[in-house]
Amino acid sequence: MKKIAVLTSGGDAPGMNAAVRAVVRSSEYFGYEVLGVNFGYRGLIEADFKQMEHLDVSGIIQRGGTILKSARSEKFREAEGRAIAAANLKKEGVDALVAIGGDGTFRGGTMLSKEHGINVVGVPGTIDNDLIGTDETIGYDTALNTAMQAIDKIRDTADAHERLFLVEVMGRDAGFIALETGIACGAELIILPEAIEKIEDIKESLKDILKEKSRSTLVVVSEGDESGGAIKLSKKLEKDFSKYDMRVGILGHIQRGGSPTAHDRVLASRLGYEAVHAIHKGLSEVMVGVINHEVKITPIAETFGKMKKINMELYELAKILR
Ligand code: F6P
Repeated sequence: MKKIAVLTSGGDAPGMNAAVRAVVRSSEYFGYEVLGVNFGYRGLIEADFKQMEHLDVSGIIQRGGTILKSARSEKFREAEGRAIAAANLKKEGVDALVAIGGDGTFRGGTMLSKEHGINVVGVPGTIDNDLIGTDETIGYDTALNTAMQAIDKIRDTADAHERLFLVEVMGRDAGFIALETGIACGAELIILPEAIEKIEDIKESLKDILKEKSRSTLVVVSEGDESGGAIKLSKKLEKDFSKYDMRVGILGHIQRGGSPTAHDRVLASRLGYEAVHAIHKGLSEVMVGVINHEVKITPIAETFGKMKKINMELYELAKILR
């Protein structure tokens, strides 16, 4: 009987629980045993394992966070840490590891495979949506909706005072959340790391927008933008825009929590199953994703490192519609 280990690592994302549930129940379907790993790679090093069965994952599909907990492990970044992790997996007789996470998780998993021959299969789970090999990552849709609802509320108060608001959203080095929430909230301006704009150009755009508008003005800023996020951008703007009542809002970790949307639950269920299915078919060192609604298998090492392209047509659309 095959034994599959499963962990969630890096920044948690809504829908990770649905993915864990799918891994456990699909393993049961294929007749495999499942070992849950607490706290991601840290748990691999500390041998923090637990057997997981059908009922251990009941009632979790609707819950945010991750029942397996998560961590960013410094020790796992070192060869010594990875050697301990691999030895612990081998001692347990684990045939494959399903790693649910983002680029850091897959980077670590790839090293574990290369150095110790562990079969790591990736399931993309990050609100950032910055992995190649899938149109969307688990958690992205929920984060978008959470950010949209929060920004809608900011719009109400911004309208009431006719204020200029800079709202910062997450995404580390990627602007996916900023772009789509910006469009969904009718932002007047969207500032992304992928669309390099000099501060002088941002000022010019803002002046044009403020000329036309009498009510509120909303600028959605990606945390990874070259201006350094909304607070730093506001400092660069305050002198030229001193006659406006400017405010800054940072949405922060609220975007990582909450019950996953239907879309994320379905995506997570599908990808959790596909990860076990890939192992069943004898595949190794791959990530399962969905592209154009179809399941896509990509070598895990190709999913991170390069920037996933943002849809610049959407960026242009936002300018037309503002
Ligand atoms: O990768 C997910 C993410 O939420 C990024 O958007 C953000 O930059 C980062 O994690 C924050 O990480 P932490 O919770 O460790 O501060």
